[in-house]
Amino acid sequence: MPNFTIHDFLRKKKEGKKIIMLTAYDYPFARIVDEAGVDAILVGDSLGMVVQGLENTLPVTMDEMIYHTKMVTRAVKDAMVLGDMPFMSYQTGISEAVKNAGRFLKEAGASAVKIEGGAEIAEHIRALTKSDIPVMAHIGLTPQSVHRMGGYKVQGKTEVAAKKLIEEAHIVEDAGAFSLLLEAIPISLAKKITEELSIPTIGIGAGPHCDGQILVLHDVIGLFERFVPKFVKQYANLKEESLKAIKIYREEIEKGIFPSRDQSFK
Ligand code: KIV
Repeated sequence: MPNFTIHDFLRKKKEGKKIIMLTAYDYPFARIVDEAGVDAILVGDSLGMVVQGLENTLPVTMDEMIYHTKMVTRAVKDAMVLGDMPFMSYQTGISEAVKNAGRFLKEAGASAVKIEGGAEIAEHIRALTKSDIPVMAHIGLTPQSVHRMGGYKVQGKTEVAAKKLIEEAHIVEDAGAFSLLLEAIPISLAKKITEELSIPTIGIGAGPHCDGQILVLHDVIGLFERFVPKFVKQYANLKEESLKAIKIYREEIEKGIFPSRDQSFK
């Protein structure tokens, strides 16, 4: 049982304290993220792009999500772990959604799931929460809808689109979501939604007024090079550090420096 629970999400919002989230996909990084004091870890379907090298998140399967979530829950002591419902694990029907979401808790040890969508998944959220599966909803830029949206574009920029997102935020709250992820929407819209809802909002590219923030781990530590979204801040460059170390390793073998007596047995 993690130290941080869905009740702490609500408590932090009430206390005006920021909720800190990050993604992780495997044991070693999940250990580091947990040790750094992050409140909650999302095993995002972004793993399709940053770990599997896919073009987008659409091909990621439930079995792959379970495989990665197991590694993360095995590593984590304090943070709450959420599994991300991949494309076609819930769009196909409510009972399929309950069955797949249940796998995250039953097989992989997660404490909640995240699911992309607004009004169209309200019934799914209702059914999941009725089955004791806590749900984080996700509106704004929803990467699984990349083809409908015509690319990864900021959402809610017109008055009509903003009004629709505000309505959807209320719908998913009423359906029972314990929190709401807002991706790539204008600052003022995220602020309004955050003020209007009683559940906490978690922003990614949604400005500073959300109740919490999340980023993709590989963006934060410089391990994803294909593109860097405007909302990303890179805090380290592990690609450069790793490249340096591995080049030295190669050179030392070539020059006969490694292994030395220190790394050899008598
Ligand atoms: O899959 C993912 O990593 C996400 C991000 C919004 C954090 O959904």
